[in-house]
This record gives sequence, structure tokens and C-alpha cells, in this order.
Amino acid sequence: MKIKFTYLIIFLGALLLQACNRTQTKLQTDSEWQSKIDSLLELMTIDEKIGQLNLLTSGWDVTGPNMSENYQQLIKEGKVGGIFNAFTVKYISELQRLAVEETRLGIPLLFGYDVIHGHRTIFPIPLAQSCSWDLALIEQSEQVAAREASAEGINWTFAPMVDISRDPRWGRVSEGAGEDTWLGSQIGAVRVRGFQGTDLSANNTLISCVKHFAAYGAPQAGRDYHTVDMSERSLREWYLPPYKAAIDAGAVSVMTSFNEINGVPATSNHWLYTDLLRGEWGFEGFTVTDYSSIYELIPHGVAADSAMAGELALKAGIDMDMQATVYQNHLKQSVEKGTVTMQKIDAAVSRIIKAKYRLGLFDDPYKYCNLEREKTEILTPESQALARDFVSKSCVLLKNDRQTLPIPKTVKKIALIGPLGNSKVDMLGNWSAAGRAEDCVTLYEGLQEKSLSYHFSLSYEKGCDVLDASTAGFAKAIQAAKNADYIVLALGEHGNMSGEAASRTDIGLPEVQQKLADAIIALKKPVVVVLFNGRPLTLNELDATAPAILEAWFGGTQAGNGIADLLFADAIPSGKLTMTFPHSVGQIPIHYNMKNTGRPVTPDNPDYKYKSRYIDSPNEALYPFGYGLSYTTFEYKDLMLNAKNISAADTLQITVEVSNTGNFDAHEVVQLYIRDVVGSVTRPVKELKGFEKVYIPKNESVKVNFKISANDLRFYNLKMDYTFEPGFFKVFVGPNSAEGLSESFELR
Ligand code: GLC
Repeated sequence: MKIKFTYLIIFLGALLLQACNRTQTKLQTDSEWQSKIDSLLELMTIDEKIGQLNLLTSGWDVTGPNMSENYQQLIKEGKVGGIFNAFTVKYISELQRLAVEETRLGIPLLFGYDVIHGHRTIFPIPLAQSCSWDLALIEQSEQVAAREASAEGINWTFAPMVDISRDPRWGRVSEGAGEDTWLGSQIGAVRVRGFQGTDLSANNTLISCVKHFAAYGAPQAGRDYHTVDMSERSLREWYLPPYKAAIDAGAVSVMTSFNEINGVPATSNHWLYTDLLRGEWGFEGFTVTDYSSIYELIPHGVAADSAMAGELALKAGIDMDMQATVYQNHLKQSVEKGTVTMQKIDAAVSRIIKAKYRLGLFDDPYKYCNLEREKTEILTPESQALARDFVSKSCVLLKNDRQTLPIPKTVKKIALIGPLGNSKVDMLGNWSAAGRAEDCVTLYEGLQEKSLSYHFSLSYEKGCDVLDASTAGFAKAIQAAKNADYIVLALGEHGNMSGEAASRTDIGLPEVQQKLADAIIALKKPVVVVLFNGRPLTLNELDATAPAILEAWFGGTQAGNGIADLLFADAIPSGKLTMTFPHSVGQIPIHYNMKNTGRPVTPDNPDYKYKSRYIDSPNEALYPFGYGLSYTTFEYKDLMLNAKNISAADTLQITVEVSNTGNFDAHEVVQLYIRDVVGSVTRPVKELKGFEKVYIPKNESVKVNFKISANDLRFYNLKMDYTFEPGFFKVFVGPNSAEGLSESFELR
């Protein structure tokens, strides 16, 4: 035993020494890098410097309006700093070799891609992921995404997208974390940590790129790329925090948004990119435009020509030009004209070169080109199992009358009907990058697998298309339903009906699908509607007639298996909406944390005329933020505060007891909201300030604890100071933003 103990001491000592060396190496690396960057800058010509500011698409994927023609030749001429939309070890090696071995200085390239919800193992779309309220799972999925993407040569992802949005007409809500600033901030931070890990020089992590800075999710009328115009108070209170949270988590790059903000496009917004991002927030990474957005300063109407656009962008603090080639074609002349300085260019180049040092690309430019990794680390059984688990945790049970779900094990004949029942490509959703339709499990395939365990026959009829109005398939679908004991209706949108440039003025179910649903539901058999969509939809008719509705979003490669697990209670629904589902498009923008107004509708006087209300719709949501059912039921009781008033130095302890009063062991997302009753400015009726996703066995109870301190109560006051104010506050704890227990306290 004594000898073993000695070995242990030696082993621990060696570990400690190694850690110190690494830390020491890191410390030296930071200062080393700067001197190396400076010495490299001294060697670089102005063309080579401007080359580092040039980011070009390889054209392997089309994610914007224009393509590059001769990027390989430009790489060889030292005029490219990074390539995006390229992957595989073979292709990346070829391009990297051009930069490293055929240019004068051999500066390696960055390789970026939109790894938005997985690389080849495609996880549920980000909006779906946020409905899991499982931060650890989200972070884990980004670790897998980074491992797979880096195994195919990529070292930079254009994610996380953290744009807050309160408007489901906007198609890119599918890429975000919904309407809540606090939750969106938590999720943005864990995504950065998942991608970047603790060692950027490792070959299985990626540098992240928080986007789209800023407030891209608030376009007028929900129309993509449209004008954003709001008070600085709203900008700082509701839209900026998630970008800051991602940057505080270490995001190495920031991407511009296409939109203007209050008259100034983000891409030429000096206040946003220099005063706020670098000055106030201390961001030290590099910035990159969105696709050709420097050029778009001309149609925006702030630049008369490309040269002026480039000067505005560089002066605003934009380092890298994605695909506009404005820096490449005009910056040198601008320097010669004296309209931009070499200092500005050197600063931008330094930040990009530093990112390449941090990735270890100068030590080994081919570190991400490992054929063995490419063979063994992609689409592994472990990543597929994680994806399957993520699907079941991202789905949200919206309705379940008469315990229609889970499907009884006694059912012998199931009919799957609908245009989304067996569509591989739609399971990917949008922004699936290297994801492949053939790798996706459809709901039909997931049910087929279940039929082997639960011995039921399965029929499938498409019934209709997603959009085409033809009802020619109805008869066979209705017949299949008549022959079945149980019906699963797979309805919704195509995967490309949300995402970029996919705004909708009508967010209802396409009419032909509603007709099919009406015909099937009219048979009065057990029916569950499984929805595949990338945004909240208006579902009044389905809510009125369908016995059960499961929101399945677009679940990625394991969509069909994860949903089937829920349908048969091999997994129990636990998802909760992170974006409000309105009754109608006319209510938009609608979100849980709205202001009370001076004429709120009050329960004691609901019908009085002179109230802030519609004459043709309720004010409330069809399904509110935080809403989601389970197969079991939960009871909330004994909400307790440890004090009725606190000082700014105190922490308020909040406890509640949650009981599982149903027949299934299950998870519940217990949510904590506050309301600042009186402030120097108006305050929202509720603000999410915490949640706990707890597992509660049936017939058992758990106590859930929260803490609130004065800092949790801060907001931008009348003078635009970010602070708390004394006064009365309400505390709400419950299963969603519209239900629960409440108490109050005073902040002295
Ligand atoms: C697109 C998107 C952006 C993406 C980029 C590169 O236009 O707006 O989110 O990262 O181009 O594909």
C-alpha cells in the first residue's frame, strides 16, 4: 500500500506541474501572440493585410445572394483570410494547402460554417431545443456539434444566434431561443461554452460567432431584413443582453445583422460596434459582417458606392467582410485617398490573426484535417442517442384531452396520416448545413420501430401536400383512418418555411391540411396531431377539435424516434414553450412580459368597454410562454418567502412544494417570475428570473428553492441607469407564465 501511495503522490505532482506549465504556456502564449502578431504585421504588405479581412464562400452550400468565382486563385494570392460553407478533410486540406504552402507568408485560413443545430448529427432546431429548458443538454449538443464539425475540417461556427424575437411571422425565430431575454441569455452562454470548450487550441472545439448583432429579431411587420426602430431602453432591456451573455461566456467573434437600428445599419454602426461592443462591453475578439452586408449599405442608403460602404464599415469597427469583396476591391484605394488609416486595418488584421493563434493554426494548420477522426467521430451511436433524447425533451404537449396520449399498448392498428409523416428532408428543419436527409428518421420509421415492440399494424397515407390545395389524397387517408384504432396526424410546415427570408403573414396551418384534419377528426376516433413547424402557429381550430396536440418542431436526424418514444410513453413530455402561440396574427407582437397599460383588462371588470383589448379576439395567448403539459399532473403548494422585506444586501429565499399527482414519473419545469409593481418607468407584468427542471416520481413531492437578490431586480430606470429600485415586488412560481402561486415582498 505504501508503494502505491508514493506512486499516487508522484502522479499528482506530475499533473500539477503539467497544469502549471499549461497555464504558464497560456500566459506566455497571450503575450507571445501579441509580439508574434506585431512581427507578422511588419512583414505583411497592404494587400496581404486586406486579404485577411476577406471571407469568401466556397459555394458548397448556398446561404446568400452571390457566390465567389475565383476564390482558390485569390487564396494563392494571399487575398483571403477565411473560407465558409466548405467541409470535409479532403477539401479543407486542399484549400489550407493553397494558403499555407503557396502564399508568401503561409498564413492559415479560418474555415467557418453555420453549425446551428448540429453538423451531421442534426439536433432539434434551436427554438425546439430552448423548449427543453435543459441547459446542460444544450451545451452537450454543441460539444457534439463541435466535435463533428471539427472532424470535417471546420474551426469556426456562425453560431449561436441569440436574436430575441416576439414576432412569429419572422422565419428566423426557428434559430433562436424564443422571446425571453433572461432565458435567451442563459442559452446563448451555454452554446458558446459548448462550442469553445475550455481549450480553443484543441482540435475538437470551434470558435463561436454570436449573431446577429443587433436586434435582428425585431423587424417591422416580422418581415426579414426590415427596419428595426426602438428606444435605446427597449434595445438595452430586451434585445442586447443575450449578445452580452454570449460575449461574457467568451465568444471569439460577433456577426453583424442585416438590419438598420434607428436609422443606422448595424454594419456601419459605430455606436454599436465600437462604443458599445468594444468600449462598454470590452469585447476583444473580431467582428464579421453577415453575407455581403457591407455592400448592402448602398441599398440601405447610407453609402453612395462600394468604396464609401467599405470605409463606413471599417470605421464602425467591422473587421471581416463576408462575401461582399468590398474590402478586397476598395480598401487599398481608401488608404491611398486617406479616408481610412492603416491603423484601423492593422487593428482588424490583428484581431483575426489572434483568433488563428488561439486555434493553434500557426502551430499546425492541418490540425482539423484528420481522416481518422472524420471516419470515427461523426454520427456515432452516442450522438444519435443524445439526439433522440433531445427530441423527446424538446417536444411540447399542447393538448391531451381524455388521456388520448400516450397511445395505449392495446392498440392494434395505427394510421399515420399527413404530409409530414414520412418526409426525411423536412426533419432537418432549416440551417442544417452538413446534415443529410438520408440520415433522418421520419415519424413513419419511428412508428415502424415501435410496432416491433408493441405489435401493432401501421398504415401511412400522405393525404395531401404541405401547401398544394389538392384534396385528391383525402379519400384514401380517410379510409385508412376508418380502418385504424388510432390515428396520428403529421401536419405543419416545410422545413424551409421558416429560417432566413421565410417570413409569413399568415401563420396558420395551410388550409388543405386543416381540411384533412377536420375530416379525420370528424371520425371521432382517438387522434393525436403531431406538428412539424419552425415557428409558433395559430392553431385555434385544431385546439378546438383535436383530442391531442404534440408540438414536435423539426427534430433532426432522430426526429421520428424521439417523437415515437413520447407517443408510447417511453419518454414523458416535459417541454415548455419559449415563445407565445397567439390566437391570431393580429395580436403580434404578443409576449408574456408585456406592460400593464393604464387601462388593463381586469378580472373584476372584464367586459368594461374602455380597456386595452380587442373587440374580435381575446388578449391572452392561445398557449402562453412557459406552457407545456405532461402525461402526469403536478400540484404547486406552500409558496414561502423567508422574509417579507429585504435590503439590497439580502438574498430572498423562495421555496415551493411541487407534487406529482398523476400516474407517470416525470420532469416539471418550475418557473420563477417577478413583477416590479412600481418603478420610475413602467415595468412588465412578469419577468422570468429562474427555473428548475425537476424529476418527480409519481405520488411524490419535491421542494424547489430559488434565490432572488437586488441585482436580479435591475432594469434601465428613468435616467437609463441599470439598477434596482426599492418598492414592492410580486413573486410568481408555477408551471407557466399564466398560472401559479404568488407572494409579495418589499425591497427596502
Ligand atoms: C446568412 C445568414 C447568417 C449566416 C451567413 C453565412 O445570410 O444571415 O446567419 O451565418 O449568411 O451563411
